[in-house]
Parts: sequence; structure tokens; C-alpha cells
Amino acid sequence: AESTGELRQVDNVAHRGASGYAPENTMAAFDKAVDMKADYIEIDVQRSKDGELVIIHDTKVDRTTDGTGYVKDLTFEQLRSLDAGSFKGEQFAGEKIPTFDEILDRYHGKVGILIELKAPELYPGIEESVAEELKERNLEHPQNEKIIIQSFNFDSMKKMDSLLPKVPIGVLTSSKAHTTEQALTDFAVYADYFNPSYGIVTEDLVDQVHSLGMKISSWTVRSQVAADFLLDMDVDAIITDYPDYVDPRKTNY
Ligand code: G3P
Ligand code: CA
Repeated sequence: AESTGELRQVDNVAHRGASGYAPENTMAAFDKAVDMKADYIEIDVQRSKDGELVIIHDTKVDRTTDGTGYVKDLTFEQLRSLDAGSFKGEQFAGEKIPTFDEILDRYHGKVGILIELKAPELYPGIEESVAEELKERNLEHPQNEKIIIQSFNFDSMKKMDSLLPKVPIGVLTSSKAHTTEQALTDFAVYADYFNPSYGIVTEDLVDQVHSLGMKISSWTVRSQVAADFLLDMDVDAIITDYPDYVDPRKTNY
């Protein structure tokens, strides 16, 4: 990547919130990210059995809560009764699974929101529901609101782009097969961001993505070494469990 010798702007994206320090995808983790001056919070959106959009990473609740079963098979009331904090430490007991509504209301305008549609193939019509929630808040023209939507499911992102043409779209992958000239050119038709795992990031890839007019955000940083590597690669954003690894000078908490 081209080096100007000037201080580069890299967006600091708190992965599932500041999930190194607080239970992922809870208000505790998102508030911590804001305290740590992250530029964005990253959230994983899924849907309850009765249609509520909820923030949780795994398709099952087992790892991060005291419940069991698939998110899609549980009602919102059932999901909301779970403890989503204790797995990270008893001091977080009582943290709840947030709703997409709550995240938008609490954080839009305050911190950027990188919205991942997690396994949208399990939730037919979730793209329309997400688009509706954003439109209700006039966030479908988010020039200044820092809203991005991403997924590993490319068809879902094509659909999202047609529903919300002005909202930036990202494609997620950890596959080298998606870094060919042809694959990248195809993504650039509807995507504004190409978001690879850091294991497949090279200087050439960053240059190629930029020359196709896209930005590049990479994940998931869980060590200072990984953060330093991505800073070196000149990516546009770094998605990290530890916001302080990306810019220690910003840390003030
Ligand atoms: O934002 C990128 C990253 O979140 C993708 O992987 O599994 O943590 O959702 P995952
Ligand atoms: Ca994610």
C-alpha cells in the first residue's frame, strides 16, 4: 500500500462491542466501546421466533447465555429472560440480549454502527425488517451517521443494496478464493467494503480493493501483533475485541 508518511485515519471498530472486556453483544460491551472511543460498534443481528430483531452472534444461545437452543426457535420473551453476561464474569450477571431497536436508539449519532446480518439464510425477510427499522429513524441516508451493513451471505447483501441503495454494504470472507480479480470486481458492483479475515490480507489485496473503489475492514484483532500487522497493511478499518490495541493514544478510561 502507498505510504504517505502522514498519520493515517483508521476506523477502530469494537467487535461485538469491546468484547475483550465485557460480554459480547451486550450494552455493557457497547458502552465500554464508546468509553474507549471506538469509531464503530459491530453488532450481529438475528431474529426471534416471533419476529423481534435481536443482537447475538451464535445461531444458538448456549455459549453466551444460561439458556439452550436456536435463536430462531425461541420467542423474544424467552430470549429476554436469559442472562447474557455471566459467561464473561459474575460482575456482568443480568446483562440481557439487546434488540436492534434498542441499539439504534441508544447509539446512532453517538458511535458508528457496523451491522452484520448473521446467517440471514435462516431468517427469510430479515433484510426488509432491517431496512424498515433504519428508515423509521431516517438512517437510510446515513452520510453522517456511520451506518454500514455487512454479511458473509452475498445474496443477502445484494438484496440489502437494492433495498437501501445509499447505505454502505460490506462483504465478509475468510476465503482466498474471494480475492481474485474477478471475485473482487463482482463484489464492487454492490459492495462498498471488502472485509476479510486478517490471515488473507496482503498489501496487494489492499491496493486491489482500493483500486476497485472499495474500502477494506479486517477482523478479528485479539492481539497487539495482529493490530500492528493491519495498521501496517493500511486497511481502512480494524475490527477488534480490544479497541486500545488499535490506537493506544485514544485510550482514556
Ligand atoms: O465483523 C467481522 C466479524 O464479526 C465476522 O466474524 O464470526 O465474529 O461474526 P464473526
Ligand atoms: Ca460479526
